[in-house]
Amino acid sequence: MKTIFSGIQPSGVITLGNYLGALRQFVQLQDEYNCYFCIVNQHAITVPQDPQKLKENTRSLAALYLAVGLDPAKITLFVQSEVPAHTKLGWIMQCTTYVGEMERMTQYKDKSQGRNESIPLGLLAYPPLMAADILLYDTHFVPVGEDQKQHLELTRDLAQRFNNRYGETFVIPEVRIAESGARVMSLQEPTKKMSKSDPNTASFVSLLDSEKDIVKKIKRSQTDSDNQVRYDKENKPGISNLMSIYSALTGKTIEQIEIEFDGQGYGQFKGAVADAVVATLAPIQEKYEKYLASDELDKILDEGARKASEVANKMMDKVERAMGMQRG
Ligand code: AQP
Repeated sequence: MKTIFSGIQPSGVITLGNYLGALRQFVQLQDEYNCYFCIVNQHAITVPQDPQKLKENTRSLAALYLAVGLDPAKITLFVQSEVPAHTKLGWIMQCTTYVGEMERMTQYKDKSQGRNESIPLGLLAYPPLMAADILLYDTHFVPVGEDQKQHLELTRDLAQRFNNRYGETFVIPEVRIAESGARVMSLQEPTKKMSKSDPNTASFVSLLDSEKDIVKKIKRSQTDSDNQVRYDKENKPGISNLMSIYSALTGKTIEQIEIEFDGQGYGQFKGAVADAVVATLAPIQEKYEKYLASDELDKILDEGARKASEVANKMMDKVERAMGMQRG
């Protein structure tokens, strides 16, 4: 059975973008693959986090993983910091990486903007840790949104570089991008991707937003004044984003949506998008509350960390042997 690894940062409550780009795919994959799903809290701290919020977001994200339909009997669900091999291999991957490669990363450029002298080094060094996360588990496929494609390409380069230097050690992983919903855009600035840590909460729908907030956010999302439901990413990014969301949620093609809403204004279309979002999130939210309140959640995470450590420690042993870091 081939192996899947993917992680999500507990850097806020996850958004519709995270769900469509990543989480939703995970559910379909759990029956066919050996799956490791990780709450990557060490990535979240590359920018300062409020300790209490980080703790809450970690449990909340674990409950959401389960609420969307992931079955702990089939997958390994764990918190990154509870498996120390991640930072151990992360350091080795940093030593395999060139500074120039890091400075070229789009996410680093975006996230370091406006920070001047106070750019955390962790922001620059994030991709080698992500490479370590993936390489520890002999991962074949990494299901992620489009924004992570560049980091995945780097992971492949690092794995190859390591293998060339020290002998065949890592499986070279492949990226898996969702067919629809791989890049959901901000509801307020539709040329920017939707992000859970965006300070403007109107820019995203979170998986835990109330029905009232979802309707309000979709209805007030930025669109042009042409009032025609037509896909044109360049000239009509706002409405095109809503059409992509609607398509990802309903399975309808863009063409079918254009026909369905021909002659109807944005008001009606936005209402239909909001209804589709609410219908998708309502059952998830109901299950979420049950998981969050149960002791089962912590048991699942404890067991997940134990299972992940067993596999990750074996890989660390192999890596350190290959590098001459063991005396025996
Ligand atoms: N807008 C998006 N559309 C589709 N997929 C997305 N992903 C993120 N944003 C979108 C995918 O969600 C998974 C988890 O992402 P992450 O938490 O590891 O980090 P991120 O990519 O930086 O996501 P955010 O929401 O933008 O977080 P913050 O605000 O903390 O930086 C990944 O598979 C990602 O591709």
